[in-house]
Amino acid sequence: MCGIVGYIGSKKASPILINGLLKLEYRGYDSAGLSTIENNSICVKKNKGRVNNLYDLEGINDLCGTVGIAHTRWATHGKPSKQNSHPHLDNSKTFSVVHNGIIENYHELREFLTKKGYHFLSETDTEVIPNLIHYYFNKNINDSNNFLKAVSLACSDLKGSFAIEVISYLFPNNMIVAKKDSPLVIGVGNNENYIASDIPAILSYSKSFYLLEDGDIALLSKNDVKFYNCSLEELKKEIKNIDWNASSAEKNGYEDYMLKEIHEQPTAIRETIGACLKDNEKVCFDDFNISFKDLSKINKIYIVACGTAMHAGLACKSTFETLCKIDTTVDIASEFRYRNPIINNNTFCIFVSQSGETADTLAALKLAKQHGAKTLAITNVIGSSISREADYNLYTHAGPEIAVASTKAYTSQIVLLTLVAICFAEILNSCSEDILNDLKKELLLIPRKVSSILKNIEPIKDFADSVYKEHDMFFLGRGFDYNVAQEASLKLKEISYIHSDSYAAGELKHGPIALIEKGVTVIGIITDPSLMLKSISNLEEVITRGAKTFIVTNQDIDNSDFNMIYKIPKTNILLSSILSIVPLQLFAYFISKAKGLDVDKPRNLAKSVTVE
Ligand code: AGP
Repeated sequence: MCGIVGYIGSKKASPILINGLLKLEYRGYDSAGLSTIENNSICVKKNKGRVNNLYDLEGINDLCGTVGIAHTRWATHGKPSKQNSHPHLDNSKTFSVVHNGIIENYHELREFLTKKGYHFLSETDTEVIPNLIHYYFNKNINDSNNFLKAVSLACSDLKGSFAIEVISYLFPNNMIVAKKDSPLVIGVGNNENYIASDIPAILSYSKSFYLLEDGDIALLSKNDVKFYNCSLEELKKEIKNIDWNASSAEKNGYEDYMLKEIHEQPTAIRETIGACLKDNEKVCFDDFNISFKDLSKINKIYIVACGTAMHAGLACKSTFETLCKIDTTVDIASEFRYRNPIINNNTFCIFVSQSGETADTLAALKLAKQHGAKTLAITNVIGSSISREADYNLYTHAGPEIAVASTKAYTSQIVLLTLVAICFAEILNSCSEDILNDLKKELLLIPRKVSSILKNIEPIKDFADSVYKEHDMFFLGRGFDYNVAQEASLKLKEISYIHSDSYAAGELKHGPIALIEKGVTVIGIITDPSLMLKSISNLEEVITRGAKTFIVTNQDIDNSDFNMIYKIPKTNILLSSILSIVPLQLFAYFISKAKGLDVDKPRNLAKSVTVE
């Protein structure tokens, strides 16, 4: 779960590498480093901490090399330290490597190499890679292709996941990259090539990309890229043109990416609805066609994901059940993959992931395929690993999401899942036209309703400013509102470091109410008129015990016992989560700001979790 960047061309590599790393810091920021080829040797500059610290390193501005690799780290093996930072060199300082992923058999490999006389300077799993390359390089010293051969032999010894970049002063005009289960893209320029863990990192340099598949090895020079499989047979690959706007990956005047992304939700939702939904027409996806025959066999739907993406699934479970009349289970990917779920060819599995790279979600997808399920990926990143693995593929069009805390991806995922549920219901004829038409009409109004919430953020900031010093908060709701409570609680803890919990409001009296005492903040979400009175009485119970309350509702609640009532627009209950989460995303944001924290890069987290 690190970010890697590479450059090979005629320009000075180091500024390009640092610029790319800054865009990849969301993948980890425990340490950063780079190496370039300088006058027949490899120069390494690295240190603990943020990418910006690289600017302070002595000699960084003197680097002139036009070939280089770089890395921003989220520590897995070995503490964050200069020693454990990438790039790593082999003992002879011939090869330099950066690596994203985890080498599961590194103990074994370390032992093997130690017996061969190699020694290790870091605690990382990565350091075995340059030494293994050196070992195979020397073994095949008379082979004309020995650099490529050494990298491919080393890769075939590695168990686990990796995206690596390798340079050597012996081959100053080349770089080799390889990948398995960790993302890697190559951006093609004019007599230059850029490499990165994701497209936005190098979008300002290139719009034409090669997306590497697992097992691919690429040999790059400044004006050529050759692809090989692990047996070093040459492969053909097509270039993909990406029409994202580079400025959409920047902050555009907002103080933080998270705030910008919260405000981008009306556009993200509108773009996700795109052309799939037009007035009085059936939902229709360009690239996703499933027949009545195939769909009518389905007796079980799983929605599998992690974190916020899983919460988007929870928000849509009832939608699938209500509209399609198919039993739907939402599962955490890391649980699903190990609990032997009942899957067969009558099962339809939907995998939801913003990044499309989450290791547990990808593994769960592979498992579902092995057992004969039909699989659909819902991701936000074109060509991501999850989207390439699934039978069917749909994209949220939220644009690049940089802040670690997911916001616009969540609301776009709910929109797209809802569209899939409507589409299934229309194919299966499982729901009345009136219900579906009302839902579609409401969906088209959602972007405007989100915009109206975004015009009224002051009261949310005021309440956040009054409670940001608290240590515990609770989010309560029933039905759809409980799902939103779960997402709101996750948002708060990840960026404010305040302990928070979410409960189905009716569960409170079965235990958690013991935690309520004078001054504790309780946030209630009430959008379902049929459950309103029950939720209000649960909230009264916490008020009686001294809690401060903040209510997000679309109902006309006239109750002066609540400290603050924040009104949101009414909508179809199946869409209510999209509106009620917005003030709570802002609530978490303002608390984090009031505490002076780094909103976009919360401690211990990374945007893309490509390890188990
Ligand atoms: C969201 O705010 C989190 N940072 C995290 O829970 C995230 O949603 C999760 O890691 C899944 O990521 P994905 O959508 O890229 O698969």
